[in-house]
Amino acid sequence: MNTKGWRLPETVDLLISGAGQLVTCRGSRKGPKRGKSLSDPGIVVDGALAVAGGKILCAGTRAEVERSVSKARVERTIDVGGRVVMPGWVDPHTHAVFSHYRADEYEARIRGEGYLEIERRGGGIRKTVREVREMDEDRLFEVSRRRLMKMLEGGTTTIEIKSGYGLELKSELKMLRVIRRLASEMPLDVVSTFMGAHQRPSESGAGEAYVDVVVDKMIPAVAREKLAEFIDVFCEDGVFGLEETERILEAGRESGLALKVHADEITSMGGSELAARMGAVSAEHLIRISETGVEALAASETIAVLLPGTTFGLCSRDFAPARRMIDKGAAVALATDFNPGSAPSCLMPFVVAIACSQMRMTPAEAINAATINAAYAVARGASVGSLETGKKADFVVYDVADYREIPSRAGANHAITVVKGGTVAWDRPAFEMASEVGF
Ligand code: NIG
Ligand code: FE
Repeated sequence: MNTKGWRLPETVDLLISGAGQLVTCRGSRKGPKRGKSLSDPGIVVDGALAVAGGKILCAGTRAEVERSVSKARVERTIDVGGRVVMPGWVDPHTHAVFSHYRADEYEARIRGEGYLEIERRGGGIRKTVREVREMDEDRLFEVSRRRLMKMLEGGTTTIEIKSGYGLELKSELKMLRVIRRLASEMPLDVVSTFMGAHQRPSESGAGEAYVDVVVDKMIPAVAREKLAEFIDVFCEDGVFGLEETERILEAGRESGLALKVHADEITSMGGSELAARMGAVSAEHLIRISETGVEALAASETIAVLLPGTTFGLCSRDFAPARRMIDKGAAVALATDFNPGSAPSCLMPFVVAIACSQMRMTPAEAINAATINAAYAVARGASVGSLETGKKADFVVYDVADYREIPSRAGANHAITVVKGGTVAWDRPAFEMASEVGF
């Protein structure tokens, strides 16, 4: 436990005690976890957590925490009865602002139809683009707000959201304004990414014209209104090539945006190497990453954001080579890729479960990847993602006795209380009647 730099306040707003496992996800040094350190979930047995002013005052054993708050007035104590307490999930890659789900495509994929066939008959990203262009801003906000509530119930307390279903200035700005409104009205931290280069609009053709629009019109407008913190490009054969991706990212950087890349998802194009070379905060998807791509990421600060829920949603078995990346020393994070087509599940525990059973990440590796490393993937590593003194008090109480039950018993939501910035943001009603822990 470390309370350095803190003068203990007179009042503790919330004291959580009796955690059978307090999964802190803390590390021995700053920065995302790599290699062996990814295997350490930082568990404190019989743990406790004190919160003041929305932040973690101290996290440690019950004895340690009680001692350090012994002189303070404690406003509220919750004894969690031997359950697991862990950091709120950080979901660093979503497309959560959209119109409607495309469930028909799920069935088409089961029947064996491919991405291109689905696009050709009017489905895919461009279908959502048509709908988002039509939908008014208030309705787009309301449908998205409800989705974020579901994510919060599942324990997600920080989420990144990309634009990219507008593909024209007016509609991209509309999406980004919806993201900004979600950030100000929802009890989650929302990180905004401009992704005008998510696809080419059907009216633009394959030439440079649309790239010019993104670079000359969209990026300056986004920067002027301060509507995004990151820029992302779908670097893919037939979408945006390596040179186009570099041009768009460079323009974004010049306007003050940090970089992310959808890289090496369907074809091995060298997007990961480009991300590492340009100092991108993250490279995402990476199913077809090459050996040199793995080495480039391992030698860089760029975080590999893996999205196994997308492989699952695409009815595929091609997962990113997580084991190889971890063993080579890359910083690996997990995200949902939540979107209406390829990844319509918004829950991080589901992604963690697939990462364990299909990519052979251990539960500890997957949980670190979905909390502290995910926080670094959205440049929030100093403020969220682990239970440590001075960080935001974002945590989840799970009705399980062992953190490994979170992935192994996936399929149900075991969260019972979600705390965001020290305030209970969601509570499962009457859960004690159905609890399996603590008696
Ligand atoms: O990240 N890879 C590109 N785009 C999205 C798919 C979005 C959609 O299908 O609507 C993705 O998987
Ligand atoms: Fe995506």
